Amino acid sequence: MNSQNIKALDSQHVMQTYARFDAVIERGEGARLYTPEGREYIDFTSGIGVNSVGYNNKKWAEAIYNQAQKLGHISNLFYTEPYARLAETLTARSGMKRVFFANSGAESNEGMIKLARKYRYELFGTYRTSNIITLKNSFHGRTIATLEATGQEKFHPEDYFPYTNGFKHVQAGHMEAVEYACADGHTCAVLLELIQGEGGVLPLPASYVKELRAFCDELDMLLLVDEVQTGIGRTGTLFAYQQYDIMPDAVSFAKGIAGGLPMGGFLVSEKCGDTLRAGDHGATFGGNPIAAAAALEVLAQIDDSLLAKISENGEYIRRTVSGWGFPAVRETRGLGLMIGVSIKGAQPKELAVRCIENGLLILTAGSDALRLLPPLTITREEIDAGLAILKKVLEEL
Ligand SMILES: Cc1ncc(COP(=O)(O)O)c(C=O)c1O
Repeated sequence: MNSQNIKALDSQHVMQTYARFDAVIERGEGARLYTPEGREYIDFTSGIGVNSVGYNNKKWAEAIYNQAQKLGHISNLFYTEPYARLAETLTARSGMKRVFFANSGAESNEGMIKLARKYRYELFGTYRTSNIITLKNSFHGRTIATLEATGQEKFHPEDYFPYTNGFKHVQAGHMEAVEYACADGHTCAVLLELIQGEGGVLPLPASYVKELRAFCDELDMLLLVDEVQTGIGRTGTLFAYQQYDIMPDAVSFAKGIAGGLPMGGFLVSEKCGDTLRAGDHGATFGGNPIAAAAALEVLAQIDDSLLAKISENGEYIRRTVSGWGFPAVRETRGLGLMIGVSIKGAQPKELAVRCIENGLLILTAGSDALRLLPPLTITREEIDAGLAILKKVLEEL
């Protein structure tokens, strides 16, 4: 089928909830993507941080194929080896105690919300301790609860009233705001992204995160870290909290974990390792053997050597973009291969469209930034090819 026919079918039969870019993607190789007509793109999006080990990654495809031949699904009523081995790998590499497997980022955050409420309920025996503090400009998902957790008014239109209550949004970086919001003693947790992704690739200051950790300990509230976008190697360590020198009570992950298959979950520390017990939570597909086998292969590829390369390549991209000295570039920010390029004098969306017309897939974030989330395995040659297109587009501004 050619691109035109595919777009026609989509517009006729698909709920039009996405403002899609004008490109049909048929296949990929490394960090390059191709349309049915053979047009090539360099990919700085990795399916919004999902395709961590690139396209047509042979070992990843083999892991899926081999597992599919053995057992595709069995449900959480039974044990499977990929599931147990993945749990062992994730807990060992994160320093956390236990894991729950889900399917998406929003669902993983929902699990953490339940965890925090139950943890406090068991301590105090009243639902009145169930508020959760989240940060302005955050993004936590599209379910009714995670939309309300998201600290951006544009995600709370009246169309979907009522949202789940019990969330308070505070300005990031101000401890007094958190202290004020918790003064009634009815808060069970603080939920945050260490680098606000959708909000604009905005890293939180390390000192603020450390203060929040201490504050949560003092009041016996949980610190929940949403690493759906920052996790699984994206920032140059398996989880971003490992560079913030703190341990969360729970951390969610999704996107890149299975390299392109739907998987998510959350890890919990010793303190709340046994808070959720039999019957408290579940997901039919959670920890599905094929997704787990894919995730084990992804984690094997995200070893220390690749993590070091992710940091190096991220610095190289930021240095190169800043080095161009274009007046339209206000600053670059981020960590590892999660990069924001803050733009002035043009709309990021328009620039992204121009990049795509010129052969580079790129994302936007917040109101002012282009966002780069290339596959973690991207080569220097692919980076340079993508940067050449970005430079051309910025030069023409
Ligand atoms: C930080 C963060 N949390 C949650 C989500 C929601 O993930 P999903 O779309 O898999 O539900 C996203 C998605 O962009 C995200 O970036």
